[in-house]
Amino acid sequence: MIVKVRRCVLNVVISLVLSALSFGVSSEQTDSKALYKTHCSECHGATRTGMMGPALLPENLSRLRKNKAITVIKNGRTATQMPAFKDILNDQEISSITEYIKSKPEVQPSWVKSDIDKSHSVYHANGTLPDKPKFEADLQNLFIVVELGDHSATLLNGDTFEPIHRLKTRFALHGGPKYSPDGRYVYFTSRDGWISKYDIYNLEFVAEVRVAINTRNLAISKDGKYAMVANYLPQTLVLLDTENLKPVKIFDVKNDNGETSRVAAVYTAPPRNSFIAALKDFKEVWEIPYDQAELKVRKIPVDDYLDDFFFDQSYKHLIGASRDSKDGQVIDLELGKKIKTIDLAGMPHLGSGITWEYKGKTVMATPNLKDGQVSVIDMTTWEVIKRIETKGPGFFMRSHKNSKYAFVDVFFGPNKDLMHAIDKETLEIVETLKPIPGKTAAHIEFTKDGSHALMSIWENDGALIVYDAKTLKEVKRLPMKKPSGKYNVHNKTNYASGTSH
Ligand code: HEC
Repeated sequence: MIVKVRRCVLNVVISLVLSALSFGVSSEQTDSKALYKTHCSECHGATRTGMMGPALLPENLSRLRKNKAITVIKNGRTATQMPAFKDILNDQEISSITEYIKSKPEVQPSWVKSDIDKSHSVYHANGTLPDKPKFEADLQNLFIVVELGDHSATLLNGDTFEPIHRLKTRFALHGGPKYSPDGRYVYFTSRDGWISKYDIYNLEFVAEVRVAINTRNLAISKDGKYAMVANYLPQTLVLLDTENLKPVKIFDVKNDNGETSRVAAVYTAPPRNSFIAALKDFKEVWEIPYDQAELKVRKIPVDDYLDDFFFDQSYKHLIGASRDSKDGQVIDLELGKKIKTIDLAGMPHLGSGITWEYKGKTVMATPNLKDGQVSVIDMTTWEVIKRIETKGPGFFMRSHKNSKYAFVDVFFGPNKDLMHAIDKETLEIVETLKPIPGKTAAHIEFTKDGSHALMSIWENDGALIVYDAKTLKEVKRLPMKKPSGKYNVHNKTNYASGTSH
């Protein structure tokens, strides 16, 4: 790794010198493609699919606005390999390069089986590292906290709230990390298609593979043997053998008319021994059972584009919504058809919905990305029984079976520094936390026993704040770099009802 980086830096120095030399001659040069080739392709790849630096394609840069991209190119990024170009390129050249990396390439870059195979590395073959953890802790009450600010993750002891280890991840993780059923391994997914398998007991990466150019998330089968990866570019689902991340099968996402679709997300359906995929561009839900020799796709036609899902605890029903529609659809997975439409208003975020028992029945609650409200739905009648007004649109909801509260953040808008606690028995907001004025408070996750709730201050100079889940008093504050999410081994591997899976 170090050798590679050094070599790259050297190459950049050479290319910078070369470009400085040729600068006088071609100062009129504004051909953005040629500029890209000279100054950027070394690290970001000739076809912009990424090399040592991240991929620079519209799919990958959707979250980086033009003026932000310009700032990065001008000033570089401190403490990373991304150099500053303000003394090498003029404003107009930087602007045209920015247009270029944000535009669709003439030829869509491909990423095929041979590319996947070439990227595959096994650092420690299965069974070669010790089975005894390098540290003492309750292995079921560990957390992985993803820190997007500097592409790192912290392994946290869930009893003492002491960090055990901090590791570098791939650039821009996307979709939460997933654990093996025993909690020993964690699988990370990066925006640029890298899947990394990390051995928590030995604090080491054991295998990596790049399955695509732009990736959404990954799901792990109930038996832990398979990982399925959902991709935007190319439009595929890739099945991996978790033992060493070797690809097993690539599914091209095409319908009977030959149209292709991006995959918004893939979910695991443990009681069904299957993976279920949400498709962005056509009206189908795909189910892929892995307990049959033939890995055959079951295509379920639906009335609308469904790209955001929630499942009931038995996985008999799927509740899906489209990002453009305010209605939720309940799909009976046995029958393979819609049985109900739920009027949800705004833009529900079903992916982070949770369930609990309320007056003898199971209810689900979902935050809303557009409106300041939480919808509470009776899961027998599929009626909305309550809309709880909040101080703004939310992104994540969390609870725990031992907690009387369900937390919802106010992720968007002027009140992004607030976190509501809803009483699960009265469906009323009973307390609103404001940990640091002006700073985004987000994403609660509970400890194994539900005694503590951990919150993210979602900023580069952010923090992880631990609350006593009964008194809602702050217990501890750890500085962290944009901690996006935290994942408790026990709650995740048991598919706990208070957390999304
Ligand atoms: C020495 C290698 C190197 C060179 C040369 C280089 N980059 Fe980068 N670039 C990187 C790395 C590494 C990152 C990731 C930085 C980080 O960790 O945030 C990056 C990040 C970026 C980002 C931010 C991407 C995101 O999603 O946040 C943009 C935009 C970018 N580079 C554009 C360019 C352009 C345009 C050029 C040429 C003018 C260029 N880079 C040249 C290494 C390089």
